[in-house]
Amino acid sequence: MARRSDCLLFVFFILLALCFFASKGADSGDLRTRFSVWTGSCCKFPDFSHYDHFTHTLSDKEFPTKDKNRRIVVIGDLHGMNSSLTALLNQISYDVRKDTLIHLGDLVTKATVDDSLAVLSFMATNKVLGVRGNNDQDVIQWRSWMDWILSQPGGRTWLEKVDKHWSDYEAAVEMGDVTAFDPWPSWLKKSDWGRKVPKGWKPLAQHYQVARAMSREHYEYLRSLPLILHAPAGHVFFVHAGLLAADPTRRPTHPKQPLSHWPSMINYKDDIPALREAQEFALLSEVPQNRDPLAVQNMRSVLSNGEVSRSNSKGTPFSDLWNEIMGRCSGFHSETELASVPRLTGNQENLAQLPCYPSTVVYGHAAVRGLDVKRWSIGLDSGCSYGRRLSALVLDAGSFHSEPYHAVDFPLEATHGSDPGSSSGALEQQIFDFPPEATDRFSPRIKFGHAGDARIVSVKCH
Ligand SMILES: *[C@@H]1O[C@H](CO)[C@@H](O)[C@H](O)[C@H]1NC(C)=O
Repeated sequence: MARRSDCLLFVFFILLALCFFASKGADSGDLRTRFSVWTGSCCKFPDFSHYDHFTHTLSDKEFPTKDKNRRIVVIGDLHGMNSSLTALLNQISYDVRKDTLIHLGDLVTKATVDDSLAVLSFMATNKVLGVRGNNDQDVIQWRSWMDWILSQPGGRTWLEKVDKHWSDYEAAVEMGDVTAFDPWPSWLKKSDWGRKVPKGWKPLAQHYQVARAMSREHYEYLRSLPLILHAPAGHVFFVHAGLLAADPTRRPTHPKQPLSHWPSMINYKDDIPALREAQEFALLSEVPQNRDPLAVQNMRSVLSNGEVSRSNSKGTPFSDLWNEIMGRCSGFHSETELASVPRLTGNQENLAQLPCYPSTVVYGHAAVRGLDVKRWSIGLDSGCSYGRRLSALVLDAGSFHSEPYHAVDFPLEATHGSDPGSSSGALEQQIFDFPPEATDRFSPRIKFGHAGDARIVSVKCH
């Protein structure tokens, strides 16, 4: 008898320790402490997040770079702006049979539920390629939770009661008087809520409303969206919030950084395209932050201690770090040449060239920064849901001019700012949002990739 209870006690302590470490793990990092839905509710809920398809690699068919008659249109955060989506597609004479559409996530919320569903229907019906935004993620989690709670004994009755109660709250907010509303009446104990809903989830607000109203087809479409799209043919990544070209907690030339060394493909020494592709895959799999769903769906900046953050004001915009690293890529030097490069120390480290070719990241999520075009990054969230603009990047065969594969050295370019003379011609080096007087005809051309160009198109949102 004593033996049995000792054993149970032992198991209990092991579980306690596991819970402790799990919650510790979840506490580390700026994003996690502020946005974790799991902290403190260790081991109790099933996984609602469904990160089953983290990265999708676009095939040449999905991402046509050589066909003169086909365009690739990348569209920023929609947030249910159904009529702006229509206006933008009309503006570019979008042809569903010829053009490839890619969205950058956050299809839903902020607009009415009906408008969110209209955008979802368009995307699901046309099987549009895209990535999952943080708001789409919340909707997936609420829907997954809803399915779970309905499967629990008494779950349906409980949910119906709570749903009714919180819809009274929404009504009170609309009437402009919430004073009479009791968020936690005696029958709905806060502790009971805590047992049924993961910590940090807000009671049945807009994400839940969309989750509840959407069809199974909508839900399956959202769940099918990966967090990252990678197009090796164009050397471009699509992600909702951000990606890192190097782990900011190490120096850029550290051997563990994927762009600090040749990819380990001894058999492909002279096959530059294969080496580039391998290095791009390494960037996704070896920079730990790029494997972290919360990071790629939420990051805006990197703090001085190397942690990613969703802050608009603190730290360095992740895109600056991306451009800094990509701007140092100087192609694949031969190994003997590389071996002869003396070891760099101290300040020289910051100037070191890296054995890589640059790739481009296209992202949304940063409405406060607005349209944000840099040499190797394009931020497309220009705040449509705040009455600003909906933007798209239009790529065609001219965006993918052949790369200097025959040359081992990649010509280092003057990065923007350092040489004002280099930003001549029609290509704008950097645009921070549209001028207020911009009409829908204003569609600046930007540099894209090594030697291509692209167009930014936008419409005013109402
Ligand atoms: C969304 O836009 C489409 C295309 O313009 C239109 O047919 C549909 O009625 C709109 N849906 C809503 C809810 O406004």
